[in-house]
Order: sequence, then C-alpha cells, then structure tokens
Amino acid sequence: MAVPPDIARRDARGPTKSRLREAITIMMRSHYCGQLNESLDGQEITLCGWVHRRRDHGGVIFLDIRDREGLAQVVFDPDRVETFATADKVRSEYVVKITGKVRLRPAGAVNPNMASGAIEVLGYDLEVLSEAETPPFPLNEYSDVGEETRLRYRFIDLRRPEMAAKLKLRSSITTSIRRYLDENGFLDVETPILTRATPEGARDYLVPSRTHAGSFFALPQSPQLFKQLLMVAGFDRYYQIAKCFRDEDLRADRQPEFTQIDIETSFLDETEIMGITEKMVRQLFKEVLNVEFGEFPHMTFEEAMRRYGSDKPDLRNPMELVDVADQLKDVEFKVFSGPANDPKCRVAALRVPGGASMPRKQIDDYTKFVSIYGARGLAYIKVNDRASGVEGLQSPIVKNIPLENLNVILDRVGAVDGDIVFFGADKAKIVCEALGALRIKLGTDLDLLTCEWAPMWVVDFPMFEENEDGSFTALHHPFTAPKCTPDELQANPATALSRAYDMVLNGTELGGGSIRIHRKEMQQAVFRLLGIEAAEQEEKFGFLLDALKFGAPPHGGLAFGLDRLVMLMTGAQSIREVIAFPKTQSAACVMTQAPGEVDNKALRELHIRLREQPKAE
Ligand code: AMO
Ligand code: AMP
Repeated sequence: MAVPPDIARRDARGPTKSRLREAITIMMRSHYCGQLNESLDGQEITLCGWVHRRRDHGGVIFLDIRDREGLAQVVFDPDRVETFATADKVRSEYVVKITGKVRLRPAGAVNPNMASGAIEVLGYDLEVLSEAETPPFPLNEYSDVGEETRLRYRFIDLRRPEMAAKLKLRSSITTSIRRYLDENGFLDVETPILTRATPEGARDYLVPSRTHAGSFFALPQSPQLFKQLLMVAGFDRYYQIAKCFRDEDLRADRQPEFTQIDIETSFLDETEIMGITEKMVRQLFKEVLNVEFGEFPHMTFEEAMRRYGSDKPDLRNPMELVDVADQLKDVEFKVFSGPANDPKCRVAALRVPGGASMPRKQIDDYTKFVSIYGARGLAYIKVNDRASGVEGLQSPIVKNIPLENLNVILDRVGAVDGDIVFFGADKAKIVCEALGALRIKLGTDLDLLTCEWAPMWVVDFPMFEENEDGSFTALHHPFTAPKCTPDELQANPATALSRAYDMVLNGTELGGGSIRIHRKEMQQAVFRLLGIEAAEQEEKFGFLLDALKFGAPPHGGLAFGLDRLVMLMTGAQSIREVIAFPKTQSAACVMTQAPGEVDNKALRELHIRLREQPKAE
C-alpha cells in the first residue's frame, strides 16, 4: 500500500492550518507552496523553498518550487530582465525566495497531481538564499538509488515528498495519542536514559562511567521498572513517548534505537487496560486515516499457535493450520508417524485454495523457504479430482497413507478440487514456525488477503518458555504476574499462564504488556524460577523488591512500538522509512559515521584500554 497521496494536503487543511499561518507570518514566506489554490487568484504572495525542477520553454522559464507542504509552479517571463536573468541561473535544489502573483492556469495546463495544480505564480522577484551543488541523486524524477546513499545524504532524502509525508503522518500520530492520553488523565513523565539493565530479552547498550571506574550504565531496553516505580509513587496513570535501546539482530521491523508509547496504570485489570488502549488505537485510526475498526477480537495464545502457528497471527489471511497427527500415527511413512506419536511434535496441514496449479518449481521454492525454519521437507497433495480417489490426488506421499485416512484429512481441511494441501511434521516449534511463515508468504504471493486491516488481542500467554536444558525464560518479562498463586506457579511452572496481552495488527506485534507482580513474595518466586537467586535478586533488583515492601498498588500497562505503528499506517516496507535518521542493518549511522573511534585521552578518562584488534590479513 502506498502512502495515502493526500496526507500532505490533509495536514495543511486540517487542525494544524491556523498554526501554520501564525508561524509563517513571522517568517519570510506568506504561504507554503502546497497551500496555494484558486481562492488566492490575483493575490501577491511570497514563497520560500527549494528549486524542484527548472524548465526553459523558449523565452519563458518555469520553476517548480518545493517546500514541506508541496509544490508550486512559478513562471518567469523576460519582461522583468533582472529577475529573468536570476531564474536563468538557478539550478535544482537552490534555496530561493520568490514574490509573485497567483493566477489561474489556462484550462489545458491544470495539473491534477499537484495540490496547487490549478494555479501558477507569475514571478516578480527572485532571490537566491542558498546555492546547491548537484545533489547525489535527483529529487524530481524516480531514480533507483541504493539505501546506503539515501541514508548517507538523509537530509536530501527527507526532502522527497513521500518521505516528508511519512514524517508528517508520524507527527499527527503522536499528537493524536498525546491528546487521547492527556484527556484520559495520563501524566507524561520522563525516565532516565543512563540507567541499569532492564531485562527485555535483548543485549544492553553500555555506557562506561568516568566517575566510577570499571562501572557501566546501561541504556534502557524500555522504561519498565521506572514506570512500575511511578505507580508505587502514586502517579496512577503514566505515559511517555520513550526512546528504547536494544542491541539485537536487526530486521525490517526492528531498530537498535526505537520509540515506545509506554503506558502504565494502577488499580485497573487487564480488561480495563486493553479497553483504554484499544480505544486509543481506534480513535487514532479514525482521526488520522479515517479508518473505523470494530471491537478487536481476543484469542488465546494456544489458539493462535494452533490455528496460525504464530502468536501474532495475520487475520487478513484466511488460511489455517489443521492438526492431522491422529490420522498418521500408524502409517508406514516414518516422516509422519514419528512426529505423530511424539507429544513434543506436531503434524499439521495447510490447505491453499486454488493451489493445485502451482508448478513444481514453485513447490521446490517453498520447500527451500520452510527449510530456513528448520523444516526437513514440505510434503504436499494436489487435489485434482477428489471423486477419483487416489488417482485424483497428485503427491509424493499418498501411496504411503491409506485412502481412509487421506479422506479424513482432506475433509478436515476442507479440500476441494483445485487446492493444494501442504504438510509439516516435526518438533511443534518447527512446524508452527515453518507453516506459520509459509502461510504468510502464500497469502501475499497468491493475493489471498481478505481485508485491509485486522487488529486483535492475543491473551493467556504462558509465563515461561522452557529451554533445551530445562531452565526457564520469561515469555514477556520477569515482572509479569501469573494467573495463579506462588505455590501453584512453583508446582507447575511449565504450564502456568500469565496476565500478559499483545495487540497485533496485520500480523505485526504492535504492542505488549501485562498486569505486574505487586507482591514481593511472588516477585521472588518468579526470580527463583528464572534461576535468579537471592544474592543476585538483591544486587540487580534490590530497589524493586524494596519498592514492593512499601505499599505497591496493583498495577499494569503496556507499550506500543511507535515506529511499527507508523510503518503500518503509512504502508512503508521498512521501519527505517518512518524514522528520520535510522541505523543501517549493521546498527551504524552512515551519515554521521557513528559509532566512531575515540581518542586515547577519552578512553583513559573512562578507565578503558582497548584490546588489540587482530590485524587484517
Ligand atoms: P516489548 O518488549 O514487547 O515490551 O516491546 C513493546 C513493543 O515495542 C516494539 N519493539 C520494537 N520496535 C522496533 N524495534 C525494536 N527493536 C523493538 N523491540 C520492541 C514492539 C513491541 O510490541 N516493557 C514492555 C512493555 C510492558 O510490559 O508494558 C516491553 O518493552 O512493537
Ligand atoms: P522423502 O520420503 O524424504 O522423499 O519425502 C517425501 C515427501 O515428504 C517430500 O515431499 C518431502 O518434502 C516431504 N517431507 C520430508 N520430511 C518432511 C517433514 N518433516 N515434514 C513435512 N514434509 C516432509
């Protein structure tokens, strides 16, 4: 989906219009280019902006002038000799100030693609405020310039109208959210950036301390513990648009430095917290995109994994995973019967409507695709003609499975002639990940999505994930409350459920949160289960355990990923497209060349000696 084309115009006409007017009366311009329209016919105006395009039409010069609100066409004729000579000299990306008169364009010359396309400006005065060298990539035509170059010259890249539109939409989004939270009694409180490790599952960014030799601050992975302490302090409803830092492997929807809309409340349960934040998102989409959502469906983690192989299902996609192990326990084909008899495994089928016409090459490509997730193969049945029994099924596996069982399976997945059914048989985790990812890929490849937006809540997450060695990791974070007592938790940690919830939109985890532990005994029980013993609890989380002793209210909250939200709302393909100055895939800034080396004096002050880098061969 492209950026809604009228974002720029809507902004200019919307609630910000009067503020724009006010701001520009004290500057040099009288109007933004994108604001000019027929109502200004005959009026003298002043524009300030960049030369987007210059065209010489035998004796008349046209300059398209660009500013953040759009473009305007200015015409210079030779009658004004000096001005014309200047117009002749200017080049792309010069910064200019132009005074002229608005006039309607002749009927045939109206440009419907330009906000100001019904008018043009007859230029009287033209002042060059700043000259520009030829830009490293053109802004007035499409050019297939690599992302590295765009990021190196981000200040030029951001001049492109589609980039400006995304950042303006981002600003409308935060404005709408701030207004909603403010109206609902949330206080905006800042929390520290130089702090201690906050366990959210990623690596920390560390900052060496000059005043405490050998000690390090950690940048926050989220404001989690501070917002909980604000609840203990009695603030009741908190929010912050907070920068978070996580040193993890980057993907299209992850950045090492990103922004959360961070929320915490006291004395509300999960239903109330989900209610308030769902309303916020509903209002946001109505205000900014004019999209109306109904109530978000709730689905348990167990159901999401079973039907979609994912804890963030994309409900726009109609395909579902269907369990078929019961039909394959006794077949001779070991690939299926092995996992079908192992409780840690799963055998699932995925019916693809109309997929029987898929050529062999495409099936091979999908087999390669699922192997990324550890799948050792991708068995399939093409349903050509069900009425003909086995003869009507085209497949490398049907000879190994009795027709009786095949029919139960095909009925269960709802297979009709023309479909293909894929199978995964392996450890449950592998089958979920492989078929879950295949489902998403097929949905886009075969254009199967049924609607534009599918928001939902996933609830009833397990407390812990069990590692290979039998130890546990918190599925959300260690401060999330379980649904049971400390004793019950201790007795059955692997099956305990938590009071956590995630908001999912179109298969992306937009936000997640939970009701927190507000009793010390429970917090200590969870720490113990995570292998954090008393001494380490005191050393790392002593301040939290203290706070839980001095009157901690029941509390909970959640955090949305702002960048992901903006990415979905603008239809951007990558989170980097909606961040003004993002990092590259290798977590560097190619514009400022960060991270950079520091001199020995600075290192000495920080009590740091670098290990010798191995010499490049
Ligand atoms: P969580 O770790 O789920 O929860 O993060 C909340 C949301 O932040 C976004 N997000 C990211 N966005 C971009 N780049 C990243 N590297 C990145 N990591 C996370 C996601 C995610 O849903 N303290 C808890 C929240 C709480 O319990 O209140 C937390 O941080 O959209
Ligand atoms: P094979 O007998 O190994 O040639 O496999 C027969 C079919 O089963 C092929 O289509 C394989 O892609 C598929 N297959 C093999 N292993 C698995 C598995 N673990 N899950 C699903 N399909 C598999």
